[in-house]
Amino acid sequence: MENEATGKLSPWLKPITYLGRNWLTLAGAVLTTSSAITLVGFWFREAMQTKPLNPYTGMVLYLMLPGVFVVGLLLIPAGLLWDRHQLKKKGIHPDLVPQPDFKSPLFLRAVGLIGLATLVNVAILGAASVQGVEYLDSAQFCGQTCHTVMNPEHTAYLESPHSRVSCVECHIGPGASWFVQSKLSGVRQVFAVALNTYSRPIPSPVEQLRPARETCEQCHWPQKFHGDKFVVKQKYSEDEANTLLTTVLVMKVGGRSGGEFKGIHGRHLDLAAPISYISTDGRRQVIPRVFLSDGKGGKVEYVAETKAPATKADTKPAEGAKKEELRTMDCVDCHNRPTHKFWLPERAVDSAMTSGLISPKIPFVKKKAVEALKAAKGPQAQAAAQIAAALTDYYQKTYPDLVQKEKPLLDAAVKETQAIYARNVDDHMRITWGTHPENIGHEDFPGCFRCHDDNHKSSTGKVITQDCDKCHTILATEEANPKILKDLGIGG
Ligand code: HEC
Ligand code: HEC
Ligand code: HEC
Ligand code: HEC
Ligand code: HEC
Repeated sequence: MENEATGKLSPWLKPITYLGRNWLTLAGAVLTTSSAITLVGFWFREAMQTKPLNPYTGMVLYLMLPGVFVVGLLLIPAGLLWDRHQLKKKGIHPDLVPQPDFKSPLFLRAVGLIGLATLVNVAILGAASVQGVEYLDSAQFCGQTCHTVMNPEHTAYLESPHSRVSCVECHIGPGASWFVQSKLSGVRQVFAVALNTYSRPIPSPVEQLRPARETCEQCHWPQKFHGDKFVVKQKYSEDEANTLLTTVLVMKVGGRSGGEFKGIHGRHLDLAAPISYISTDGRRQVIPRVFLSDGKGGKVEYVAETKAPATKADTKPAEGAKKEELRTMDCVDCHNRPTHKFWLPERAVDSAMTSGLISPKIPFVKKKAVEALKAAKGPQAQAAAQIAAALTDYYQKTYPDLVQKEKPLLDAAVKETQAIYARNVDDHMRITWGTHPENIGHEDFPGCFRCHDDNHKSSTGKVITQDCDKCHTILATEEANPKILKDLGIGG
């Protein structure tokens, strides 16, 4: 019985015994088979569960195992060639090799086996490459594998309206050249991380993988930009009662309407009359010259008359920055932080207070939380301890009753203040308050006023306007109880 089975099998196995004659081929076969089994096993496991893999398991599974598989495959023929070479050197004619004889059953079997193995290999390799590329494109790979490096961007991203858009949908444009560029850049970055040669902070604007107009327009259609946007901004004062002040604006976002380009989007997105500019600081914050094309080859040039006014933003040239850069404006020149928004302490505390995470009932909490945030330094754990100490000390000394009666409120405020620090400051990556300026607006950073400062003049004396009404209608400015909101039936 047993003998019969071996007898039947052995002619089939003969080619395999031949293939296994040398250690190189054997090693190749072992590598290929074991990595293939592991890969397929993991695919089944992954299909069963929805929890994402640990990023390092992902690296091994999607990038290294397929590599081992391919190396194994290459070793098999390499071993055969080497074996043949050795035999020839010894003067032995390798007659074990089946001659290409279609009548020989041995040869046919070998061809059959190799054909089958090739099919299986192509299938495995195909699936592995698809998965590998998908993995390289995942937010997890971008944001977590290079864990420490992109952690600030990944954290900010998770809180943004784009948290369901993958990194590559913005950072890699459509088309093959972007694809290749991005993979090269990715490989370079992996090396930079491994060798610890990356820059801290990662420079912004991004040079290689910068989102472009086409990227955003996959989802936000310029034809649809029209109309106004009602914006309500809430701010807490630094007094004992944390008085709430409200600003109400109607933003003239505009766009194309009735074939005409109007408002903020319209004026800046009209491809027939593009706006370009020269910046000199490597961060596009200092803009001495602006060009407005008339679409017929002509151009109006606006030149800044006096030096740009001093601002809160740090506008010293970025490390290794190009001296001068000419750029045509697109979405990202205004929307440079649609996803990785880093807040200033005041804004972050306002937002936490609006949502109730820091209770406005705690006296002076706006002032004290902002002070604690600005004073905190160093890695997260250290800063968290400083913040807790600062706030607890203050309230224990000044409002001992409150500490007794409202302990949960205070604890929550401390916790949220610590979280604000963790989201916006990264000691290792040298990101602190204001490192990455936001270009929408003009309150916290130069933003629109980089050009709209009534100071950029053309040869005919025209200026880039700072007229408040061109961009928005201001319905209320820092009012305690704006009448307009009552009239509209919004808010208290
Ligand atoms: C909605 C589009 C969008 C998505 C999604 C997105 N980014 Fe960005 N990212 C941007 C823009 C815009 C910039 C700023 C570009 C500029 O000014 O040149 C940027 C800048 C960066 C920078 C440069 C440093 C900085 O803070 O400016 C890094 C690093 C980065 N992104 C990583 C990521 C990672 C990792 C993910 C996924 C977790 C991601 N991005 C997802 C749009 C996006
Ligand atoms: C894959 C689709 C996708 C891409 C690509 C994309 N976005 Fe978005 N964007 C969205 C979605 C979805 C929202 C959320 C809409 C909502 O919540 O109402 C959004 C919201 C926004 C908002 C409003 C944010 C707010 O706070 O209300 C802005 C501004 C914006 N995106 C700008 C951009 C810019 C600039 C780019 C290119 C760098 C871009 N988006 C790329 C899908 C995308
Ligand atoms: C000149 C600066 C500028 C440029 C260029 C620009 N935007 Fe805007 N965009 C704004 C401003 C200002 C707002 C109103 C923001 C606010 O108040 O929240 C806005 C609003 C938006 C919104 C939110 C609209 C809403 O109703 O919530 C989206 C989405 C958006 N822009 C996408 C884009 C895209 C995509 C591009 C490029 C094709 C672009 N923007 C180019 C300044 C600009
Ligand atoms: C790089 C320079 C630059 C930046 C930055 C810039 N703009 Fe402009 N903007 C211009 C130029 C140039 C014009 C055209 C001026 C003209 O028509 O004479 C213009 C025109 C406009 C107009 C039309 C004004 C009119 O007279 O009808 C609006 C509205 C506007 N910009 C809004 C914005 C907003 C909002 C921002 C910030 C989010 C911004 N711009 C940022 C250069 C800039
Ligand atoms: C070139 C366009 C432009 C001009 C000119 C302009 N603004 Fe603004 N303003 C904006 C944008 C964009 C925002 C941000 C809206 C947002 O954050 O959603 C803003 C925000 C504001 C805010 C709210 C600030 C906050 O975030 O609390 C106030 C107040 C304001 N502007 C007042 C003015 C006044 C006063 C003038 C005239 C001296 C003026 N603006 C001129 C574009 C402009």
